Order: sequence, then C-alpha cells, then structure tokens
Amino acid sequence: MRTLVGDLVAYRIEQAMPGTLGKRLYDALQQAIQEGMISPGTRLPASRDLAAELAVSRNTVLAAYEQLQSEGYLKTRAGSGTFVNNVLPERDMSGASETCNDHPCPAQITLSQRGEQLLSRAGASQRQWGAFMPGVPDVRHFPHHTWSKIARRINVRLPVEILSYSQHGGYAPLQTALAEYLRVSRSVKCRAEQILITSGTHQSLDLLAKMLCDHGDRVWVEEPGYWGHRSVLEVNGLRIVPVPVDDEGLTLPPEATPPRLICITPSHQYPTGAVMSLNRRKALLDWAKKWGSLVIEDDYDSEFRYGENPIPALQGLSPDESVIYLGTFSKTLYPGLRISYMVLPPSLTERLKIAHSELYRGGYGLTQLTLAEFIREGHYAAHIRRMRQLYSQRRAALVNVICHELGAEFIGQDSHAGLHLILALPQAVDDIALSAELEQQGVWTRPLSVYYAGEAKRHGLILGYACVSAEAMAETFMPVARCVKSRLAGH
Ligand SMILES: Cc1ncc(COP(=O)(O)O)c(C=O)c1O
Repeated sequence: MRTLVGDLVAYRIEQAMPGTLGKRLYDALQQAIQEGMISPGTRLPASRDLAAELAVSRNTVLAAYEQLQSEGYLKTRAGSGTFVNNVLPERDMSGASETCNDHPCPAQITLSQRGEQLLSRAGASQRQWGAFMPGVPDVRHFPHHTWSKIARRINVRLPVEILSYSQHGGYAPLQTALAEYLRVSRSVKCRAEQILITSGTHQSLDLLAKMLCDHGDRVWVEEPGYWGHRSVLEVNGLRIVPVPVDDEGLTLPPEATPPRLICITPSHQYPTGAVMSLNRRKALLDWAKKWGSLVIEDDYDSEFRYGENPIPALQGLSPDESVIYLGTFSKTLYPGLRISYMVLPPSLTERLKIAHSELYRGGYGLTQLTLAEFIREGHYAAHIRRMRQLYSQRRAALVNVICHELGAEFIGQDSHAGLHLILALPQAVDDIALSAELEQQGVWTRPLSVYYAGEAKRHGLILGYACVSAEAMAETFMPVARCVKSRLAGH
C-alpha cells in the first residue's frame, strides 16, 4: 500500500545528493519533519511497510527511525507505532554561524522541569479549524456586520481610559450584561460585582490555582477529562487526582483525602457528554461543604442543548460559597475573541480582581464594551438561537451517517448537546493510530484514549461537527467510515 509519507520520502531520496541510502532516508525524513511536511503527531508507517514501499531493507528504515528518535524527532508508543514528536528539536543553526561570528550561537536553552513536563504532555492540537476538529464553533457565521456597527458607534464616543489597562476585573457594562444573562439563561446566582473578566478559561484556572492553592495541594479532575484543566493545574504545582466519570458525571469515591479543588464540567462532561444528575450534584455539594473543598464548574458549552430543556448551572444550587463558575465566549462566538469570565463567591471577589490585575493586567476595553452592547441589544441570544439550530441539524446529520455506515452502537453517548460526539470503537482498534491515519487524509479528529490519565481507557474518536454543514456531512464522514471499516476488518 502506498502511504503519503512513503511518497514524500521516495521523492526526496531521488532528489538527494549522493550518499548511502540510509543517510538519504534519514535526511529525507528529518527535513520533511522540520519543514512541517510531516506534521507533529503524525504516525509513521510501520518500518516493514515503509521498507517494502521504498524497496529498501527493513534495517535501513529501522536505523533511520532510531536515529531520529534519539534526536527527539520521533517517539514510539508501545503497541501503537512511531509518531512525530509534538515538540521538535531546534533546527540546526550551524549554517547561520557566519552571521553571528562574534557571538557564538548558544546551545539550546534548557527549560525548567515544570516547562519540560508541560510540553511532554501538551494536548493542544496544531490545527484549530476544519472537519472534524472538536471544540471549535463555526466561526464563519459570526455576525461581523452587527458587531462592527456596534464597535464603530462605541468608538466615536470612547472614553479615553478604555484605551488604558482595564479596571480591576473588567468593564462594568459587560459585567452587568453578563450577570443578567447568566441569571436568566443559566440560573446562576450572581451580582455584576462578582464577575471577573478573563482572557480564556485557562487564564481563569491559572489565577484560581495560584491564588487558592499551595504547591502539592490536591485537585480532582475528571477521568476522562479536558487536557487543558490538567495542563494549567499541573504547571502550578498541584497534584492531579483523576476521578472517574460515569453516566451521571463525576463519581464520588467513598473514601478519599479531600482535595482543595474539584474541577468539573457538570452540564456537559468533556469529552463524554454525560450530564451530572441532580442527586450527584447535591451529593457533591454536600461533600465539598463537609470537607471544605471548592468546586470549579467549567460551563464551557451549555448554550448548545438540542430539543431538551437547558440544565441549570450547579452554582445556582449552592447556597454557600463552595462553587466558582467559569464561562467563555469561545464556543458561542469565537475562540480567538479570548474573552471569558468567572463568577466568584462574594468573599473572594475583590482579592481575585486585584490579583488578576497584578498578574495579567486586563485589556480589550473596546471589545468588552462592544460585547456588552451586543448582549444588551439581544444579538447574543439571537446568534445562539441561530447556531443552536444549525448545530442541531449537523449533529443529526452526523448521527445519521454514523448509524447508516457503521451502526447505532458506534454512537458513544448521545447527549443531544455541545459541538462534538464520540464515535465509540472496540478496544482492539487503536484510536491514536486511526486518528493519525485520518490526519494524513486531511480529516482532524481526536482519539478518546488520550483524554485519560490512567491505564483504563475507552477507545473512540471525538468528532467535532460544528464546522461541517449538514449537506456535506455524509461525504465528509466517508474517510472516517472507510478507515474504521478497514481497521475492524483487520481484527
Ligand atoms: C472543557 C473545556 N473548557 C474550556 C475550554 C476552552 O475555553 P477557552 O477558549 O475559554 O480557554 C475548552 C476548549 O475546547 C473545553 O473543552
């Protein structure tokens, strides 16, 4: 079978300067990786297959793979194959040495242990757009015209201080508009002063970790769960304790050392889609109160529920101060906006707003004022209504084509919500390899197993359907159906 990597390498070997075949193969692979022609995370063909394809000995391929691995270009995963590393070694700068004769180029700058650990588990995909990239909305539908009209209007009478650093915690008009929206749409109990505007959920979590936890404090995260929670909490020195999720959300271990923080996605668990039941919510809040743990509720995409009543936020059930609510505009508007927020318990509000200014200094004044008007005039609610309808059709189209091509048992969990669903796979199918194979065909999926910290992992593909029109769904899904069928036939 011909592979993309094989084609690319064969061409480069032909064009290369004379040298041993092993050296030419090594150079061809190394350059293709450095130039991004073979992208990070790509699974390389098995050595036996590449050897057959290039008509060279298997040892020649193995030697090239081993050398690239020892130099940090490749990594192997037991049972899954050889992959291009997500973080590549620096390019060899020796060719540029004449330009810096007086200042010899330094050796690669070392990172902190914390930094190395962060990179070794980096979860963010290189791609953030396209079929079936999970977690991204269809940004093509953003109402630029309405937004620009509001921004122009505000710009004409812009108070000069808006161009400076923001006041503690963001701008009052946005906090007021948000408080009203959250009370009505998400049953969140809050006053405008409790809202702190941040630049993304990761920044919200970073601030909470720094201000509420000491090095080595425990934090419960969902298993499986969002890699971003783990990355941000871990880099702050917290001890991550993965707690399994079932159909009712986070399970409560009968005996456990109470953590300082519990970080969850109760309204639409990421990635399984489970909704935390009312009983579980009450039990968790009782538990947190008893042990003095704080619950962080990441309500990242609850606006998108299809044909079912919205699920009120956990925060609204909590009569005391044990829940911190996180929200974002990344899914409802677009991720590049980088505007998100926290609803803080009253006793924390002032101190965390000061800390936010100390650590990050706020900005985006014009954007915040524009967003406030956009919400106040009803455009935000209207945009969500429109997108909800669109995503609902896209979800139905994807469910249809999965049932038609593979069977209903492949729908991992049909929670009728969010922007993604799970294509469940038998454990025998290597989801990492499958996702890498699809990536080579220009189809972006995430393997379910990488969302687990522990050894027990379910296999599947996370498919984001938000960016694929209902009309194009069946055709766009075909490469996925083909690859899944061929892997099923192989077992
Ligand atoms: C569970 C969850 N929370 C938060 C985010 C990101 O939010 P933000 O863009 O505000 O950083 C994501 C992104 O995919 C997510 O999946």
